Amino acid sequence: MRFSPPVDHDRMLVLYSQESNRPRVRGVLHHVGRTCFMNQTPLHLVILGASGDLTARKLIPSLYRLWIKKRLPEHLKIVGVSRTPLGIDGFRDRMAEAVKQFAAREWSESAWNEFAVRLFYAQGDAAADAGLVNLKAFLSESEGPNGSGDRLFYFSVMPELYAPILARLDAAGLTTGAPAGGESPWRRIVIEKPFGKDLDSARKLNKAIRDYLREDQIYRIDHYLAKETVQNVMVFRFANTLFEPLWNHNYIDNVQITVAESVTVGNRGDYYDRAGVLRDMFQNHLLQVLAVTAMEAPSRYTADLLRNEKVKALDAVTVFDDADARNLLATGQYKGYSAEKGVAPGSRTPTYAALKLQIDNWRWRGVPFYLRSGKGLKSRASEILIQFRCPPHLMFPLPPGASLQCNRLAICIQPQEGIHLNFQTKVPDQEKMVLDPVDMEFSYKKAFSSLSIPESYERLLLDALLGDASLFMRSDEIERSWAIMDPFIRASEDTHLPMPEEYDVGSGGPISGDALLKSQGHDWVGLYADRTI
Ligand code: BG6
Repeated sequence: MRFSPPVDHDRMLVLYSQESNRPRVRGVLHHVGRTCFMNQTPLHLVILGASGDLTARKLIPSLYRLWIKKRLPEHLKIVGVSRTPLGIDGFRDRMAEAVKQFAAREWSESAWNEFAVRLFYAQGDAAADAGLVNLKAFLSESEGPNGSGDRLFYFSVMPELYAPILARLDAAGLTTGAPAGGESPWRRIVIEKPFGKDLDSARKLNKAIRDYLREDQIYRIDHYLAKETVQNVMVFRFANTLFEPLWNHNYIDNVQITVAESVTVGNRGDYYDRAGVLRDMFQNHLLQVLAVTAMEAPSRYTADLLRNEKVKALDAVTVFDDADARNLLATGQYKGYSAEKGVAPGSRTPTYAALKLQIDNWRWRGVPFYLRSGKGLKSRASEILIQFRCPPHLMFPLPPGASLQCNRLAICIQPQEGIHLNFQTKVPDQEKMVLDPVDMEFSYKKAFSSLSIPESYERLLLDALLGDASLFMRSDEIERSWAIMDPFIRASEDTHLPMPEEYDVGSGGPISGDALLKSQGHDWVGLYADRTI
């Protein structure tokens, strides 16, 4: 969904109605194709850390897909920078292999050849003195003597290198000289998570970066926000009238946000053991999902108005003291975790956590938000479950011991993207009145059968090139998210407390995760991904 420029290139999205097979205009798709990059100012995307995993797995395959979809401008040049001596041909060959593997469905020799001529390589250690000499020479030749080109620097490097590399880019004059207001020639940077390891370090990092750049030049990634289905939460809430009047404490009993992963830490043990699930998933992805679920409607869909509303929602989340955080947190570790490569023996790092948050504002007062996430679980599923309150009075008799399943709305972020509204119906042709809960379903695959859900990095890379920061995190959001999570992180690291509870790989997680909700008078609602019907 985009409400950004340029309107004169909009095109209609015509889909065929399944029943009648007649074309129906479903809406207007805002075209963000090559024509969006109106000016012909030289445009460079510089990938720092170009020999790394992220470049091969996500960045280049996503750029290649964008190219095939005709969404990148013809004059874009992509320059890889890293210490590895690859040369232009070596870099192109390596990236061809990556695209064959990670964009296998879209691979085409001829499309690749068209795209690959836009790839360049400037060897150097970006964090070392004189490490940017090759890049500087390349850019000045490519941009011409005035050096008046637009530049996007993608930091695909370890977080401890953000500030040192930025200092070198600044000293080399590569990030300087951008007029205020985002006018061309612009300079932007994209940085990956993790952004700090707690509130204090995130503040320091924000300050270090702002020594060189303005906030509007900094694009901090949270790839969850770029998921179509997370953006659809906003469309669902604010482009429909149906649910918004009910979206508050009068009608909602509790909200459950789950991001379950079946994978284990794999070869990321070294990073993960220092992060743990609370830093890796909660401080960023789960809190962003909470923010779009809980926020008020911005007056317009612009980066700052949207982010203002998310910050207000996060500001209203209670920052618990350490004692409360200990009581509202359950942690687990999958069996065999401490034997993973890079993990310290006897590690107490949680690979699973469940916790309760509350939002102290008019809309949400008294509605618990339960969040959980873990690795090595039975399923891979990210879902938001809205549990509505029960009717104030039920006139239908229920069988002895039975209770009414009250309305639920499940927003399935992945992998079976869709929305399910669960409500009661009368079972036909019974002796007595019998009630049964049924689902009203929306499935992305069925509704948009000719379109597929793109990789988040496509959206993020394109938006960063276009200067749309809506789906990127602002410094205040990041800092507030750390403030919310820090007490829980301290609790998980407190060596006076018991170790995280062990759970089997392929299970539903530790029992303490269920016990936490029971202690609050609730139960986790089963994931849609786990339903067998
Ligand atoms: C990343 C985490 O940010 O998100 C990973 O570092 C996690 O540990 C991943 O696996 C999950 O993303 P997705 O898109 O697969 O749900």
